[in-house]
Amino acid sequence: MVGKLTKENKLKFIDLFAGIGGFRLALEKQGCECVFSSEWDPYAAKTYEANFGHLPAGDITKIEASEIPDHDILTAGFPCQPFSIAGVSKHNALGTKHGFKHPTQGTLFFDVVRIISQKKPKVFILENVKNLKSHDKGRTFEVILRTLQDELNYHIYYKIIDARNFVPQHRERIFIVGFKNDLDFKFPELPNKNLKVADILDKKVDEKYTLTPNLWLYLKKYAEKHKKLGNGFGFGIVDLKGVSRTLSARYYKDGSEILIAQAGKNPRRLTPRECARLMGYPDSFKIVCSDTRAYKQFGNSVVVPVVDYVAKEILECLKRNQKATETSSSEIYFQQRLLEKHAKYSVGGARKTTKITLGAMKR
Ligand SMILES: C[S@@+](CC[C@H](N)C(=O)[O-])C[C@H]1O[C@@H](n2cnc3c(N)ncnc32)[C@H](O)[C@@H]1O
Repeated sequence: MVGKLTKENKLKFIDLFAGIGGFRLALEKQGCECVFSSEWDPYAAKTYEANFGHLPAGDITKIEASEIPDHDILTAGFPCQPFSIAGVSKHNALGTKHGFKHPTQGTLFFDVVRIISQKKPKVFILENVKNLKSHDKGRTFEVILRTLQDELNYHIYYKIIDARNFVPQHRERIFIVGFKNDLDFKFPELPNKNLKVADILDKKVDEKYTLTPNLWLYLKKYAEKHKKLGNGFGFGIVDLKGVSRTLSARYYKDGSEILIAQAGKNPRRLTPRECARLMGYPDSFKIVCSDTRAYKQFGNSVVVPVVDYVAKEILECLKRNQKATETSSSEIYFQQRLLEKHAKYSVGGARKTTKITLGAMKR
């Protein structure tokens, strides 16, 4: 099955730049239903299909918004292609004058905007690297916020969240949440847990993950050279009682950012399964690609329990709003009945008025 999925009476979401489905795991846990996903990397798509029984659609830039099913929630961990507004006067760039090329045109963010603008989901959740906020002296983020707020008219909230509150990994990512209606959303307080890398490690690990003598020597020399130059580049042996550095998509190269010390042996890198745990994936999640591909996929992914935490609060907020809407529509219904009654009394002759005050209409 490609693209569209089945219908049910649940909140529906779409999973853009789906990777291996981190957003999907979290939103499904919250009882939502995925109706569309897009991921163009065939290996990530293979992992996605193995786990969700659904092969995502491909290149999002080639998919018309009209081909995407209606949905309540849009999720996107879009790759950040820098779009500089240098050389264009700020007024022009942000004013989106008629005939002027939009500053985000040609970037994947633009594709997210084009889909939101046509499909108008109740809410969207975007995720990106922390540096999105400071990129190009903050101008990139300014264009993003202005586009979402002023052009799409969404109510925007954002927060940098460190995953160390959910998994034993220091990983800061920015979450941008936009609501179509003006709701009382607040990012929830983060849990303060003391998580330890030791808790996600395998008991028995294949020798292939131990660094070869050559690689270990190279990493030590490299670190020494940079230490002399006064900068901190180098490998990272993890304190097993604490959290690891950020797992990057480049981890497959030498694994140097997160190494596990071993008694009487060279250190080792994490196994793909340990990486999965570091990203908050359950052990039932199927890893179906080579180690290299799996490292890239987990390094690119979102930390599932972080999305889960944010999504839970978003859904609570939508529910509160739904209740408020239902209450106010029942108020309108009640008002209408009273007005009809009032009209009956007033028709033909003796005008018998019923005094209706707003207070009296409230239930
Ligand atoms: C930062 S990763 C998002 C990972 C995802 N959130 C997850 O949980 O695994 C961005 C993803 O966008 C995909 N991508 C980039 N350009 C794309 C395009 N034009 N169409 C569809 N997917 C694309 C990449 O292959 C990559 O997997």
